This record gives sequence, C-alpha cells and structure tokens, in this order.
Amino acid sequence: MDHKQSVGLEAAKHVKDGMVVGLGTGSTATFFIRELGRRIKEENLGIRGVSSSLACSLLARSEGVPLVPPDQIDRIDLYVDGADEVDPAKGLIKGRGAAMVGEKLLAEACDRFIVIVDEGKLVQRLGAKFPVPVETMPAASTFVQRGIAALGGKPVLRLAPGGKDGPVVSDNGNLILDVTFAGTPDWNAIDAALNGLPGVVGHGLFLRYASKSTVLVGSPGGVRVLA
Ligand code: A5P
Repeated sequence: MDHKQSVGLEAAKHVKDGMVVGLGTGSTATFFIRELGRRIKEENLGIRGVSSSLACSLLARSEGVPLVPPDQIDRIDLYVDGADEVDPAKGLIKGRGAAMVGEKLLAEACDRFIVIVDEGKLVQRLGAKFPVPVETMPAASTFVQRGIAALGGKPVLRLAPGGKDGPVVSDNGNLILDVTFAGTPDWNAIDAALNGLPGVVGHGLFLRYASKSTVLVGSPGGVRVLA
C-alpha cells in the first residue's frame, strides 16, 4: 500500500462518532477523506466535516462527507492534514496546494491535530526542501515582496501550471509567493514578521501547534508516530 494511503487510513481510525473533523487538502489528506466517506457509508459513522479549501469541499461532497462552514462551529475535535515538511520539533511548512490560510484556521480551532506524512517529508530543519508559501493580496504584492526581501527572503510568484495563464489565484482571490531563505533562518522571527506585514493574508509556517500535534509517518515498515 502507498505510504500516503497507509497514514490516511491510520488517521481515520482516530475519528469517533459525533466528532467535528477538520479536513485537510492534498494527496495524503485525500486518502483520509475517502476513508471517512467509506466509514460513513459502511459503518454509519456520524460526523461533521470542516473543509480547508475548495478542493477539499469538492472531494468531501463527492465522498459523502457532510460539511459545516467553519464560521458555524466553535471548535474542531480533530484536524487531519498532510504537510510539505516536518522538523523534529513538529514545526511544519504547508501550502504546496495554496490552501494554507484555510488550513491554519483549522489548526487554530482544533483540539487535536494529526499530521500525516511519508518519510520524505521529514527534515532536520525547515526550508531544507520547500519554500515558505505566502498568500498576499494582489494589490499589496509589490509591497509584500519588498517586505519579504527585507527579512532576507527571496519571493517568487507562483504560476499556474497549464489550464490557466498567469499566476495561481488562491481560493480567497489572492496571489502566492514562494519564499526561500538562505542560511539558518530564525523561523519564529520570520513567522511573527510575516504575520505583521500588511497585505499578507497568511503563510505556510505552522510553528505553534506542536503541543497538540501527533505526526504519523508512513514508512516501509508501516506507520509510526514521530517521537
Ligand atoms: C495544501 O495547501 C498543503 O498544505 C498540503 O496539505 C501539503 O502540501 C501536503 O500535500 P500532499 O499530501 O499532497 O503532499
């Protein structure tokens, strides 16, 4: 079985009847959502899902997972999602699919966060393989790029592959800058600085959720919990 599939199925075992469940975006979260759909049909599992993106909503609907809008719930029992990088302190980079703003809402609102990844996502330090995606209001893009450069980052506008000319436009109508930082950046300082930069809607550094996170890692030997 694919490692992304095995962690998706494992995470779905943690979902109990009556839960409000945060649904992630991406290829790994897709396995989780499909398994939830199966359990709803075959085991009569009663849950309400909260979507992290348009792609997630479309998938949840097609799999028969009932959705409730994020602004109609007070809290989420369990949020399950993939990540692009996971460091030893359970810090994450997310946003390859440009859904990190919706995903961070769920990370904030949940009691428990299960991160589902394969071994290839584990890094010794964040930024080793992936840039940090930053969602910017289109009108603020130049200002935000200057602000990012002042922090030592190199922003590159994310372009849409095939199907559309020009940039990727997020579910919120914004642009995505993929930002690399040379050397060994102070991620906590960059997190705070990006949060305070006008025009930035959100970004893919998830540093504040480790205490409520469990990281499930799919590997050739099976699924293990990151210690
Ligand atoms: C979506 O924007 C991302 O945050 C994904 O959750 C992340 O990129 C992991 O995706 P995969 O499971 O497809 O690797």
